[in-house]
Amino acid sequence: MPTAIDVAYVVYQATDLDRMESFMQDFGLVTAEKRGDALYMRGASSAPFIHATRKGAENRFIGGAMQMASKADLEALAALPGSSAVEPITDLPGGGWRVRMHTPDGVPLDGVWGQTPSASLPLREPNAFNAGTVKTRVNYSLRPKREPGLVLRIGHFGLRCSSHDDTLTWFRERFGVLDSDYLCVPGDESKVIGTFLRFNQGETPVDHHFMLITQSRNPADTGVHHCSFEMQDIDALMGAHDYLLERGHKLECGVGRHLVGSQIFDYWHDSFGFRVEHYTDGDVSNIHYQPVRYAVAADETTQWGMQPPKTFFD
Ligand SMILES: [Fe+2]
Repeated sequence: MPTAIDVAYVVYQATDLDRMESFMQDFGLVTAEKRGDALYMRGASSAPFIHATRKGAENRFIGGAMQMASKADLEALAALPGSSAVEPITDLPGGGWRVRMHTPDGVPLDGVWGQTPSASLPLREPNAFNAGTVKTRVNYSLRPKREPGLVLRIGHFGLRCSSHDDTLTWFRERFGVLDSDYLCVPGDESKVIGTFLRFNQGETPVDHHFMLITQSRNPADTGVHHCSFEMQDIDALMGAHDYLLERGHKLECGVGRHLVGSQIFDYWHDSFGFRVEHYTDGDVSNIHYQPVRYAVAADETTQWGMQPPKTFFD
């Protein structure tokens, strides 16, 4: 079975690349490359880009890509029904090879391997926090700033699907992934309506999820829910939060701490209304973690902080 190890990037289409670039820079991404017809943004990690925007007549989510563990995994992907052959990537920063695929709902989602890494960007060390009973910061002070805290990497994105089960099968077959936790109908653990997926790296802990697949209430209303980017720590997230507020950007909800995955989060709308998330301090799990079924109401999915509005769950 092919194995993926990370999210590579997400791709959107928008009418104005300058507006997208301006928001994304405020959000904490750095311009990797800008052409007449496309914008590529990166974080501090060595990924050549993690968020791409193509210029087009309408604003829409296009798709994304997963980084495969090896070229053999890419070749195994190519052997599956509906996959393209392995082809060189000549039109994106970092190059490499890819296999083009579509989810059961027709979302373009590629497997990539062999991208040339970029030099990592300087990222400050994590801050030391003094808990009630454990003090690790002695004789110095924290001085976080209101500034676009540099995004480290893309962590996950979410897809609303016409068939949760078919999409889940598709991801399992193509990326060798593990179920982390399930969202169920409130009060009924037997009815799964959402699955958090993580990569399988054996004993090595990985993010709680790289993907959230949810059942769309309206089968015709499918597509991206949000994409999410990791920050160094809560000071980086809060500094970016205040900076985005000062710049007049549209906060949807947060700061809060999720129930499933435990991330400290906030959600913003980019210049075109797409939902983007900052997160930090999320759970990590290895192959031994067993999924939990959460049959909770929407307002129970935030443990503390600002609840998402009802429209968040549509
Ligand atoms: Fe998220």
